Amino acid sequence: MSIAILCSGGDAPGMNPAIKRFVDYAYLKGDKPYFIYDGLEGLIDAQIKPATHKDVSGIMHKGGSIIGTSRSKRFFQKSYREKAYENLKSRGIDSLLVLGGDGSFRAMDVFSKEFDISFIGIPTTIDNDIALNDYCLGVDTALNVIRDATDKIRDTASTFRRGFVIEIMGRECGYLCAASAVACGAELCIIPEVDTDLSLAERILLEQIKNGRKYVLCFVAEGTAKTDYMVEWIEKKLNLETRKSVLGYIQRGGNPTVYDRLMAFEYVVRALNSLYSGKNINSVITYRNGEFFYHNIGEIVSSSYEISHRITDMLNYIG
Ligand code: F6P
Repeated sequence: MSIAILCSGGDAPGMNPAIKRFVDYAYLKGDKPYFIYDGLEGLIDAQIKPATHKDVSGIMHKGGSIIGTSRSKRFFQKSYREKAYENLKSRGIDSLLVLGGDGSFRAMDVFSKEFDISFIGIPTTIDNDIALNDYCLGVDTALNVIRDATDKIRDTASTFRRGFVIEIMGRECGYLCAASAVACGAELCIIPEVDTDLSLAERILLEQIKNGRKYVLCFVAEGTAKTDYMVEWIEKKLNLETRKSVLGYIQRGGNPTVYDRLMAFEYVVRALNSLYSGKNINSVITYRNGEFFYHNIGEIVSSSYEISHRITDMLNYIG
């Protein structure tokens, strides 16, 4: 059996520790692992090479992915999937370990049904938006990057008498925004999943400002598209000069935290053991309440991701 690893979709810190564990563990098991560079695009274009220990030494602390990633439109077309299959077959590769989000897993599901290729997916996206799963690789690092950026923004917010609106990534999912709003003690948090009672927030914050509050931090999830609206709202309703800060791609970068490194190792060992034993193949590994599970992609896409009430309950009066 030969297994190749690829990354697909947005990069996330934790990919490199996962790649390192993949190579080291595969060799330990007597396997000859492969890299597919640049995701599904590289699979189509035969950017496939044997992986060596040299490739993965000194990469644990690096963000991004040493083998690259892509969002592939071509892979939606069967003719390109045929090409991808030929590239794997000619090298004797029969299994894929895929780091990505549910779009990538759906593509893999189609591929594994059409051709004789097995796969296991590891949820890897800072959006943390995979259903039936509590934790995607990269999330802890992104939360720490946001916390660090907010600590700096707070210096200006608290020195001036100002409002700050901080826009957080996450597509349609508010997890990253809500968890970091709690961890950073933001006064307001706007996410797609919760209807924030702004009249209540206005009353409470005006009272706090009367009692000496000098600044307000408001976190907005990009999926709500309400960043500019909240800037105006704070200026008008709370009478505070307000600035916005879109954190953008810095949230996807940085050295993976210890938690992301440990989780990367755990996910990868389980994924490889499944592929070697033939058990739970063509599925996605999920992590829920401290345990690992395997789900086929149908189960994942037919359920929708829900933020734990343990997070939303902590959003003060604003949730
Ligand atoms: O999925 C991760 C993510 O960073 C989202 O939070 C964001 O909306 C999107 O990717 C940006 O995508 P791209 O890298 O294609 O600009």
